[in-house]
Amino acid sequence: MNTVTTVRDLRAALLKWRESGDTVGLVPTMGALHKGHLSLIDASRRVTKRTLASIFVNPMQFGPHEDLAKYPRALEVDCDLLAAGGCDLLYAPAASEVYPEGFATKIDPGPLAAVLEGAFRPGHFAGVATVVVKLLLQTMPDCAFFGEKDYQQLLIIRRIVRDLNIPTHVVTGPIVRDTDGLALSSRNAYLTPEQRKQAAALPKTLTETAVRLAEGQPIDAVLKENRVKLSEAGFKLDYLELRDAGTLAPTHDLALPARLLAAVRVGPVRLIDNLAINKA
Ligand code: PAF
Repeated sequence: MNTVTTVRDLRAALLKWRESGDTVGLVPTMGALHKGHLSLIDASRRVTKRTLASIFVNPMQFGPHEDLAKYPRALEVDCDLLAAGGCDLLYAPAASEVYPEGFATKIDPGPLAAVLEGAFRPGHFAGVATVVVKLLLQTMPDCAFFGEKDYQQLLIIRRIVRDLNIPTHVVTGPIVRDTDGLALSSRNAYLTPEQRKQAAALPKTLTETAVRLAEGQPIDAVLKENRVKLSEAGFKLDYLELRDAGTLAPTHDLALPARLLAAVRVGPVRLIDNLAINKA
């Protein structure tokens, strides 16, 4: 597997593939790869002839007091994992390649970015949107693959691709979970062994909440009880919300697709998770 670090080398490699008529799948990542990322590489390999992964810890999507400096970086191990997973090419640009001197453009993803994660992490989705649009324009892939773990991010990317007529098909991959249910995330590496044990209470509570909602139990009461449960499990709760699966507006209508979304903090670590609600 080759690695390129500049837009110029990236485009030269892509041109060769295009001249051979090969379709291209892009898996954008921030590195510190886990099985969730590798499942997206797998998905790309099933759908497109060529698979390209990007690794870029995007400073624009981190707030001033967030974990940019300590975000896990493991380029060598990541390269081995990608090569073993059958990825054809890695794009790993430096920050100066993505944001050269004088860079001034920002994509505003609109109302979807104002709620939930957007309310707790102001500016986060503008940073995500800007870098994803850049990656899509730099690579012009047939398909781009994103995990459902970052459900709100996924909806925002779909919106942008549609709004800006970017000729890429956005493909989603299901959340990959550890044996105790915790959704895989590069940030799980921050958890102490004790916090890691505690973290399993998040998917457990989400699942219990989802079951009760799907049974038709009263939505507000179920959410209220489970917010308390999360606090009792030792988390600082940012939100536990039931939202319309397409617009993220609050909903009480389970006849339409809905999504249960949560964010909690355990020590300094923030965990997010979500589940589809399927009314029985
Ligand atoms: O989900 C991520 O890892 C990042 O937000 C993404 C999509 C690679 C943009 O930096």
